[in-house]
Amino acid sequence: MKILNVVGARPNFVKIAPLMRAMNAAPDVTPVLVHTGQHYDNRMSDQLFEDLQIRRPDFNLGVGSGTHAAQTADVMKKLEPLLLDVAPDVVLVVGDVNSTLAAALTAVKLSITVAHVEAGLRSFDRSMPEEINRIVTDSVSDVLFVTEESGTTNLLREGVAPERIHMVGNVMIDALETCRPRWERSDIGRTLGLAPGERYGVVTLHRPSNVDDAAKLRQYIAALTDLSRELTLVFPIHPRVRGLLAAAGLDLNAGESRAGRIIVADPLGYLDFVSLVSRASLVLTDSGGVQEETTMLRVPCLTLRDNTERPVTVTSGTNRLIGADPLRIVPEALRALEVAVESHAVPPMWDGKAAERIVDILTAGTIGQTRAEAG
Ligand code: UD1
Repeated sequence: MKILNVVGARPNFVKIAPLMRAMNAAPDVTPVLVHTGQHYDNRMSDQLFEDLQIRRPDFNLGVGSGTHAAQTADVMKKLEPLLLDVAPDVVLVVGDVNSTLAAALTAVKLSITVAHVEAGLRSFDRSMPEEINRIVTDSVSDVLFVTEESGTTNLLREGVAPERIHMVGNVMIDALETCRPRWERSDIGRTLGLAPGERYGVVTLHRPSNVDDAAKLRQYIAALTDLSRELTLVFPIHPRVRGLLAAAGLDLNAGESRAGRIIVADPLGYLDFVSLVSRASLVLTDSGGVQEETTMLRVPCLTLRDNTERPVTVTSGTNRLIGADPLRIVPEALRALEVAVESHAVPPMWDGKAAERIVDILTAGTIGQTRAEAG
């Protein structure tokens, strides 16, 4: 069975690592790896491949940045001839980025079976580009692999046949566990200048709804500056956000923010980032994957959004939605620091074996059948 795997952006790389490993170990599977080039910076792409021990992609489409339509269309135009040439049995896509949507659409139109890993997640917020990507990708996928119960519920509600939905657990947790011995050895704290035993919080911020408006970004920076008087903050900055900060005339290393301590860093590699999060007292984020990683690592997470497509991280994890109001950051963070983390349950099947389950299902010989029935 030839499985063509498509990745484009940073969170995709984390998810594909355990899948490639499981596919390499399966005697009947020939995996092909395609990088769309959506993320292309060394720190957003190459470093992750190295940390996660993913082999070099067989093909790189080199699409780079662009508007949503241009980026999606570029992936589709470049992927179509490749799919015709390689003729895979299955195209596997992960997550919810533009590359995911583009690859799924291209494959389904060529009548190639599409498998979506991390299906069914819904924030019910259509202003999020990822929500559109999730809805469309799921609606054209033949096999849907789900990380948490809400995914199954959402897909059934949307009319997906139950036999196409497979609850398999979370490949992001597979990656976290596989890499544990290596991220435990990282001494990124020292590299960043944290004192031994110093308490700190980690901040990540990149959602368009949070950073695209200069006035709101300014409020976030002001709130983080206030918080940094109580707790050292480490803020690895996405390249896009660095540009927006500069455009808004905000310099975290100057002026007011010096009142506290905000350590500004470039995007970190996977091992350093997970290591940093694992030892943090608190994480403030608008990322999806970080909500899951903090749940697994039992680190309190305050999500700077009004909704989450990953509700299990709230119901059984360490995540709390504090909304996109910057004014809530300081009081909520101080409260979170005072409350000890209870012993949360790990969500069902987040056991490091999701990728194996996925490959077992793909190779069980029922996938073609599923497609014929769906058609
Ligand atoms: C994308 C995903 C988002 C995911 C995030 C993880 C979509 C719609 N969004 O958002 O779901 O959480 O990746 O990081 O697919 N840039 C660089 N270097 C890079 C990549 C991007 O400088 O290697 C800059 C460029 O200015 C680019 C901008 O970031 O225009 C946006 O990149 P893009 O991939 O379009 O979206 P992200 O914000 O990274």
